Amino acid sequence: MSEAFAAVDVIAAKRDGGRIPDEQIDWVIDAYTRGAVAEEQMAALAMAILLRGMEPSELARWTAAMIASGVRLDLSSVDRPTTDKHSTGGVGDKITLPLAPLVAACGAAVPQLSGRGLGHTGGTLDKLESIPGWRASLTNDEFLAQLRSVGAVVCAAGDELAPADRKLYALRDVTATVESIPLIASSIMSKKIAEGSSALVLDVKVGTGAFMKNVASARSLAETMVSLGTAHGVRTVALLTNMHTPLGRTVGNALEVAESLEVLAGDGPSDVIELTLVLAREMLAGAGLSDVDPADALRDGRAMDVWRRMISAQGGDPAAPLPTARETHVVVAPASGVLSRLDAYAVGVAGWRLGAGRARKEDPVSPGAGVVLLAKPGDSVQAGQPLLELHADDPARFDGALSALEGGYDIGAAPTAQPLIIERIS
Ligand code: URA
Repeated sequence: MSEAFAAVDVIAAKRDGGRIPDEQIDWVIDAYTRGAVAEEQMAALAMAILLRGMEPSELARWTAAMIASGVRLDLSSVDRPTTDKHSTGGVGDKITLPLAPLVAACGAAVPQLSGRGLGHTGGTLDKLESIPGWRASLTNDEFLAQLRSVGAVVCAAGDELAPADRKLYALRDVTATVESIPLIASSIMSKKIAEGSSALVLDVKVGTGAFMKNVASARSLAETMVSLGTAHGVRTVALLTNMHTPLGRTVGNALEVAESLEVLAGDGPSDVIELTLVLAREMLAGAGLSDVDPADALRDGRAMDVWRRMISAQGGDPAAPLPTARETHVVVAPASGVLSRLDAYAVGVAGWRLGAGRARKEDPVSPGAGVVLLAKPGDSVQAGQPLLELHADDPARFDGALSALEGGYDIGAAPTAQPLIIERIS
């Protein structure tokens, strides 16, 4: 088939700092998805975009072309308002687990197509797969049926959703072109818009354990994503939230499921409860249900009921014991004082090396592996008191985790309290 344009012309236009014309954007995304634009050509274009940026209208067209590379789900048969949340990824971020059933218990429907973890941040599907029997893959019919009957589905995104992003994200991963705000924003939003939800809340993490290390870059990503969502008719807001220290007291798949169950039982760490409730209120507001208080549904067990139905509907046994790791190793406080810093990235890498995360897409994860935080920043500790508990199936993994944690915490004066919710962008 003869092609309408030549990839070199598109690359050269962006290399020289120009705007790619609309028809060329549509063509290059479609031709790349079909295999008519070579990987090395798209790699060059991605690098040119990383270096030169994109104008807002150019990025909107690019995102539309990514959505059009696959299907946009039709959720019109769901009789409740649909609303979803996306997190840019953090350490100990298990919020989707209590949040999706909670928001469903309050009357909205949550259609969440999710991913697996890569690197030091965990993936929601990996966490749920630690529940015996639970399966991540659903057909479209199963997805819609569960959304109608239970009100919440967390499952793997099928191949038909933004296939251009699937190829491009894998390419960016190996060509040092992930860290581009237009490319990150279009990647996330093409998938989220194609998912078909009417409202979306973005949890943009800021800190050492996040993609975005400072507030200015997180704000810029959040503003870009909010404007893309809004332009596609999705009511979108973003919260910038703190990721300098891990969320909650657990990092690792089954450990995080257990902590989420505590939250659903009306207990659990205060930061996990706070973020769950703040995001639930935003999701409910987007669904036109601002008068419903999610704290009631957490307290009276309705969210837990939806959790059990959501897990059972995907083959999981909500009553089955969760897997545990074979070995544990305790890290003790080297001195007395206040734990003034516990670095999210260090803990994330430690959890990953213990087996909770994967280095390559096809690697398995160890469901019981991870880190339990026995103290959090601001807690007083005595020399010799347990600070962290490492969990792994293979004790040979402890050394790598311990070296990741070197320099990852300080004991000294009380830290200045950092707000969990930094900013709201709408
Ligand atoms: N997550 C995505 O889905 N895409 C990116 O580009 C970065 C994070």
